[in-house]
Amino acid sequence: MGREQVFTCTVCGATQSKWSGRCDACGAWNTIVEEVPLAVGPGKALKRGNSLTLTDLATAEAPPPRTEAGVAELDRVLGGGLVAASAILVGGDPGIGKSTLLLQAAARFARNGLKVVYVTGEESAGQVQMRAQRLGLTESPVKLAAHTNLRDILATLDSEAPQLAIIDSIQTMWLDTVESAPGSVSQVRAAAHELTSFAKRRGIAIVMVGHVTKEGAIAGPRVVEHMVDTVLYFEGDRGHQFRILRAVKNRFGPADEIGVFEMTGKGLTEVRNPSALFLSERGTPAPGSVVFAGIEGSRPILCEIQALVAPAAPGQTRRSVVGWDGGRLAMILAVLDARAGLSFAGLDVYLNVAGGLKITEPAADLAVAMALVSAQSQQPLDPQTVVFGEISLSGALRPVSQTENRLKEAQKLGFTTAILPTLAKRAAGSGLALREKPDLATAVTDQMSGT
Ligand code: TYD
Ligand code: MG
Repeated sequence: MGREQVFTCTVCGATQSKWSGRCDACGAWNTIVEEVPLAVGPGKALKRGNSLTLTDLATAEAPPPRTEAGVAELDRVLGGGLVAASAILVGGDPGIGKSTLLLQAAARFARNGLKVVYVTGEESAGQVQMRAQRLGLTESPVKLAAHTNLRDILATLDSEAPQLAIIDSIQTMWLDTVESAPGSVSQVRAAAHELTSFAKRRGIAIVMVGHVTKEGAIAGPRVVEHMVDTVLYFEGDRGHQFRILRAVKNRFGPADEIGVFEMTGKGLTEVRNPSALFLSERGTPAPGSVVFAGIEGSRPILCEIQALVAPAAPGQTRRSVVGWDGGRLAMILAVLDARAGLSFAGLDVYLNVAGGLKITEPAADLAVAMALVSAQSQQPLDPQTVVFGEISLSGALRPVSQTENRLKEAQKLGFTTAILPTLAKRAAGSGLALREKPDLATAVTDQMSGT
């Protein structure tokens, strides 16, 4: 009797019983591959297990000890430093700077007294040493190995007993107990599982690198996200020097926290004041440019949103978005049309978040809308103005969280005015002139008439 075939998506890990060109779960194309099931699994008759000792909630242990890297941008994203006995996944596009970040982090932790082992499966030891030399890290007491057999690596970690191990990358690691090739969903899962349980058992922190993959063959980091304690994504636009480390899951700290770095010739340096950086490229006030007062994690960040509207070729209007959600843009365009009488039919619309930042907050709705209105009407907004607020389908504006933090940051950077939803109570302590708008139609009319 042939075993049942299982097909797995290499991006999200969803399984299905037959092959298809598109994953039903995540919608990715060409990512479904046949999966070789693990040797051990359900189906074998289970022996009766041992009964567990149960505890109650009050017997909580002391909070886990943390070690700081001394790099504020990294420590904050980790939730206040590195936690012992934890598994961390660092995902990101190839070439974005994951190895650079982790080599620099390894060196910092080693200098702060942690015993650190760095295992590379991607590069030769020589390549990593050359990078270390370029970054001026050769003096740091980091132990290095270039290897991909996980059994040997675990044995080494067992005898070396480091406090931090970096595995670059999880897709190059392989276990001889799993039949399929390195990089396949089953290998990546099994390797991540081994490393995670090793981290828990031996009380060490293990950082795994995972490349984001665009199509089949190699499993992406999302297939192991559920196993690890912390998931960080390293994002950025390769054309820009800014890099953002974002916590999307953290069992030991707040998620959505970000750290901002700049890629220089000497590796990554921290950016302490990201708002100033994101606004630094702003030129003379142009129509379609709006400063959005956003919040990323616990931190206010100001950035520029740019819109461009141009006549479309007959029958093919384009909607192009960088750094924001395309579906959300379609919604804003529909609400502008239905509630404020501003139509973009027959027009191409381009929207861009400057600096390579990705925004997910609904609070950006109003800033996007104002950028579109300004681009459409060719009237620039006052350059000393920040905008934020959520737009509902009815065209009403909803207040957003942390209004005061947003206003404070804007004031710190020299802005004088804010356009925002009508507030239920007065925002304390901001020196900004507040232009409160009850709904989108009012905001649009006021912008058109220049008030
Ligand atoms: P890398 O860390 O190898 O990326 P990843 O591990 O995510 O694939 O970084 C690759 C890029 O970073 C490469 O294009 C060169 C650039 N880089 C610098 O600009 N400055 C530096 O000091 C280093 C080490 C890399
Ligand atoms: Mg790398």
